[in-house]
Amino acid sequence: MKIGIDKMAFASTDQYIDLTELAEKRGVDPNKYTIGIGQDRQAVVPPTQDIVTLGARAAQKLLTPEIARQLSTVIVATESGIDNSKASAIYIKHLLGLDDYVRTVELKEACYSGTAAVQFARGLVTLNPQESVLMIAADIARYGLNTPGEVTQGAGAVAMLISANPHVLAIEPTSVAYSRDVMDFWRPLYATEALVDGKYSTNVYIDFFKNTLARYQQRTGRRLADFAGIAFHLPFTKMGKKALEAVLQGRNDEVANRLRAQLTASQTYSRQVGNLYTGSLYLSLMSLLQNGQVTPGDRLGLFSYGSGAEGEFYSGIVQPGFANYLSDVAHDLAGRRQVTVAEYEQLFNGQLGMREDDVQFDTQADGAPFVLAGQKDHQRIYQRQ
Ligand code: HMG
Repeated sequence: MKIGIDKMAFASTDQYIDLTELAEKRGVDPNKYTIGIGQDRQAVVPPTQDIVTLGARAAQKLLTPEIARQLSTVIVATESGIDNSKASAIYIKHLLGLDDYVRTVELKEACYSGTAAVQFARGLVTLNPQESVLMIAADIARYGLNTPGEVTQGAGAVAMLISANPHVLAIEPTSVAYSRDVMDFWRPLYATEALVDGKYSTNVYIDFFKNTLARYQQRTGRRLADFAGIAFHLPFTKMGKKALEAVLQGRNDEVANRLRAQLTASQTYSRQVGNLYTGSLYLSLMSLLQNGQVTPGDRLGLFSYGSGAEGEFYSGIVQPGFANYLSDVAHDLAGRRQVTVAEYEQLFNGQLGMREDDVQFDTQADGAPFVLAGQKDHQRIYQRQ
């Protein structure tokens, strides 16, 4: 029985900054951001948006009444949780009007947990093939104003339906997960911004990619030539290039050039929104499917990485008609509004703090379908608009 990704949808905020403008304001050569890091634009998050509103917005795009009836479980993968106890999946389930007889849970391991959610969902569907799992990877990547990580911020959510007989990607049985206790990036409970050993984190990422790919190749006997393309977790687009080049080792043959071209296609959307943390690999997959040379029957590789650290390499086979089961990402990105760096800084500082209460936000200015209206009695108040 084939199990895998049946439908995919993406949502981000409606505002972005231009990174050339940010570079100028920060006194940095813009080429460092657009070429050295490989990012052009970055999603800006108003106080009325968080992982619940973004996750619900992405999931709403793939739901139909029939799909909603088949759901056994909603899994939210995130490292931008809004509560230390209650799962964001419960809020999202409520906003989407899903049946109460649905399991809801939140998963965490930095950017990796999106892939853990996919693997857990596969297990659930194997046990009950007539049921589907809604998996949502939603995050807001915050490093702070004027930090080296600032250019690698971002925000958004990818929602995926995991089902039997999937329409997008049938996941193959072999996957290699690898974890080690590493301090490359973390966020203590009292912090709203991540702490990071940036250069070290890029080295650990490459090491985990080489390691999991080599073991996958050993176990399957497959070579790079067997992949039509590889989608990477993209904290910034240059990271995927660094990792791919580490295994191509300067090769300039047909296979190497094909994988390079597919990598460029997979980076298109990340360049426009920045790091999505848990959703980043899956936005990269959507970008490859919508902008690359992909035909049904092709095998795609997927490399997931989460600091802390955990990596996984796995693969899937593209299914006939896949293009009809993806939300129109290019259209959504084109509809966003550019804000100035000053506006971005104001919105950045206006995010709901860790200890604030009795806060009300002006939701009029936010045209998104779901908004965070404020917090009262230490409870977040969400609205459907
Ligand atoms: P930095 O120190 O500001 O940048 O931090 P740099 O000096 O290393 O320069 C970056 C690149 O720009 C270099 O290229 C420069 O040569 C180039 P590279 O040598 O790396 O190929 N450059 C230029 N290019 C063209 N024209 C110029 C120019 N100037 C310089 N004028 C860093 C960069 C990524 C470290 C920082 O942004 C950071 O700390 N980011 C956050 C951490 C991160 O994203 N790590 C990625 C791996 S870890 C991961 O993926 C997990 C994560 O998603 C979290 C999770 O799992 O939850 C982050």
